[in-house]
Parts: sequence; structure tokens; C-alpha cells
Amino acid sequence: MTKRVLVTGGCGFIGSHFIAGLLADHADIQVVNFDSLTYAAHPDTLAHLEEVGGGRYQFLKADITSAHVAEILSQYRIDSIVNFAAETHVDRSILDPGSFVRTNVVGVQNLLSAAREVKERKIRFVHVSTDEVYGSLSPDSPTSIETAVLDPNSPYAASKASADLLALASHRTYGQEVLITRCTNNFGPFQFPEKLLPLLISNALEDKAIPVYGDGMQVRDWIYVVDHCRAVDAVLQKGRPGQIYNISASQERPNLEVIRSVLDILGKPHSLIQFVGDRPAHDRRYGLNSSKIREDLGWAPSYTLDQGLALTVDWYLRNQEWWKKIRNKDFFQYYQANYREKFAQTEAGRVS
Ligand code: NAD
Ligand code: DAU
Repeated sequence: MTKRVLVTGGCGFIGSHFIAGLLADHADIQVVNFDSLTYAAHPDTLAHLEEVGGGRYQFLKADITSAHVAEILSQYRIDSIVNFAAETHVDRSILDPGSFVRTNVVGVQNLLSAAREVKERKIRFVHVSTDEVYGSLSPDSPTSIETAVLDPNSPYAASKASADLLALASHRTYGQEVLITRCTNNFGPFQFPEKLLPLLISNALEDKAIPVYGDGMQVRDWIYVVDHCRAVDAVLQKGRPGQIYNISASQERPNLEVIRSVLDILGKPHSLIQFVGDRPAHDRRYGLNSSKIREDLGWAPSYTLDQGLALTVDWYLRNQEWWKKIRNKDFFQYYQANYREKFAQTEAGRVS
């Protein structure tokens, strides 16, 4: 029975929602939030989690590549790990793949080894992965099932696929209690404003252009973050070791359609849309078959795309201070101003 859960990456977007939900839904669970506080962490969330967590929540500033993970697991008598910690932005992975290998591959291997070092109890390990590991689908192909071939295209996706394979190998080789989840594109409150939806909402609110990569007809399968978190909780509580669970609300939409819907909710003109150069190796379509988690664990999504978008837009409207603080930081402005130029160099490099 899961009682003391170490959640890595709990100061990020999805991890913070997961912790809040876990504490609210299970009165007997204690959570240790283990996060190194990279650029993507939002310290404001810490205060929020302290408040909802009461005595059942603790925060540790620590890195998943640290040599001290096993000691921490013993000290806090952890019986389950849910690993959200990762470098997560595809655009950044194109410019700096090394940091993705460090956290997403070496860090996961380190966590797996540390969990095995603890001899007092068998630690259950839920590794949070992504639909990007399957690569790009053609327009008329069926959605990906858990046994589909891994065919990642970006350095981010390749790092996540590598970690998935290491996690599975740990189960097969050492009998470690490992479970893997693969989810589609999340959106909701507290998402870092470099990702499409929060970037779109915050740019539109400031009447700035919305950069649309390529022709904007790439398809993503959208899920409200709370539904993803409930699915991960179902896997933590009831999933079978050694299994992979796809998580999807089956809401595939072309980017342009989502962008236009959000502009309409905000009452902003479609003329804010600005087509820009494409992301190198941009995946055309993701789409997951999630029958397994629905049938085996009884999970189903609760939010439609329209409901989730309305809630998300409302949150970004009411929490402008939160995203403005991030957008005003030098590193954010430097990155937004420079990375497309660097993409252009990448593409030029491939052509010549
Ligand atoms: P995020 O970028 O918002 O947050 C990542 C968190 O991990 C941050 O708080 C950061 O400080 C922490 N972190 C990074 N490196 C670390 C390290 N070495 N040690 C400890 N902590 C570290 O990410 P997110 O969007 O919330 O994604 C969480 C997880 O879910 C990731 O594993 C991601 O691959 C996966 N996922 C995300 C989505 C999505 O749409 N965002 C979809 C499917 C799967
Ligand atoms: O599919 C799950 C993945 O979803 C997660 O594993 C990743 O961690 C998460 O970042 C997300 O990856 P994407 O690359 O799909 O998300 P992003 O928000 O960066 O882009 C969504 C789509 O919008 C994608 O087709 C690229 C496009 N896009 C993105 C940005 C930031 C634009 O057209 N313009 C933009 O400015």
C-alpha cells in the first residue's frame, strides 16, 4: 500500500497538479516533493503546496542525478516514486540536447539504481513518459498502442524513449516494480509560458503576434492536466508492474484550430497569427490509443477540450502576475528572441 510518495519535478507544471491532487484524494498519503528548481520550476507553487499539504507535505531541493538519492529514500522511508522530473521543451532540446540526456536519461538511471539500493522495502517506481516516443503518425494511420515501435525524432523524445527502455530493462533484469505512463499534450494552469497554449494566451493578452510553426496543421492530442494526474494516480495505485499505460482524452486537433478557438474565447483577432519557420524534425501528428488504462484501471477523462480551454484561459486571465513575472525575466526574453534564429541555422546546416 502506497503511503510515502517521493514525487520528482513537483515544482513543475504537471508535478505540482499531481501533488495537490494526491494530497486531496488520499488522506493517508505523505508526499516528498523532490525538485532541483530549474528555470521551469515555479517557486510560487511551493507556497501553494505547503498550504494544501499541511503536515503531509515536504519539499527537498535536490537533483535526480545526485549521488544521495538512496539515502534520501531510506531517510524518508519512501515506498513509491513518481518521476515527473525532466527537461521538457522540445525547442530547447534542439539547441541543448546535453541537458536532456543528463536529466532525462542519466537522472532516470540514477533514480532506478537508487531505488534498488534500498533493501528495507521494494519501492514502486512510476515513470512518467510521453506520446512523443512513438514519433510522428501519418494522417490516416491508427493511433499508437503501447507496443508500437519507438521512433522518436527530437532529442527530447529520444531522451524520453531511452529512459523508458532503461526503466523496462530494470523491471525485466532485476524484477524492479516499474510502471510507465505515456501521455499526450497537457494544458492547464501553471504551465510555463514557452509551451504553445500559455505562450498563445499570454501573447494574445498583450496583443503580441502568435508564432505558428510551419503551416500550423500539425496535430496534437490534448488533455487537461487534471485528467493526466488522475490517470497517473490510477497507475500508481492499481497498475501492474512492467506495464506501459497510454493516457489520452482522444482529442486530436490541428494547432491552428486550437489557436483560433483560444483567440475566440479571448475575443482577440485571428490576425495575431504569424506563420514562422518550422521546428526542425517537427512531428506532424501524435495520437494515442488509451483503451488499456480505461479497461484495466477504469480511468476516463473528465474534461472536454472546450471545458479545459475555458478553465485555462480563465486562470491565465486571473493570474497575470504569475506569467508576467516569468516573461519579464532576461533569460526568457533572450531565449524567445534567439532560438528561432538558431533553428534557421540548424536547417541551413542540414541543407548544405
Ligand atoms: P516542467 O518543465 O513544467 O517541469 C519539470 C520540473 O522538473 C521542474 O520543476 C524542474 O525544476 C524539475 N527538474 C528538471 N530537472 C531536474 C533534475 N535534474 N532533478 C530534479 N528536478 C528536476 O514539466 P512538465 O510539463 O510538468 O512535465 C512533467 C513530466 O511529464 C515530464 O517527465 C514530461 O516529459 C512528462 N510529460 C509532459 C507532457 C506535457 O504536455 N507537458 C506530456 C506528457 C508527458
Ligand atoms: O506530446 C507530449 C509533449 O507535449 C510533452 O512530452 C512535452 O514535454 C511538451 O512540451 C509537449 O511537446 P510539444 O512539442 O507538442 O509542445 P509545444 O507546446 O512546444 O508545441 C505544441 C505544438 O505547437 C507543436 O506542434 C509545435 C507548435 N508550436 C509551439 C510553439 C511553442 C507553434 O506552432 N508555435 C510555438 O511558438
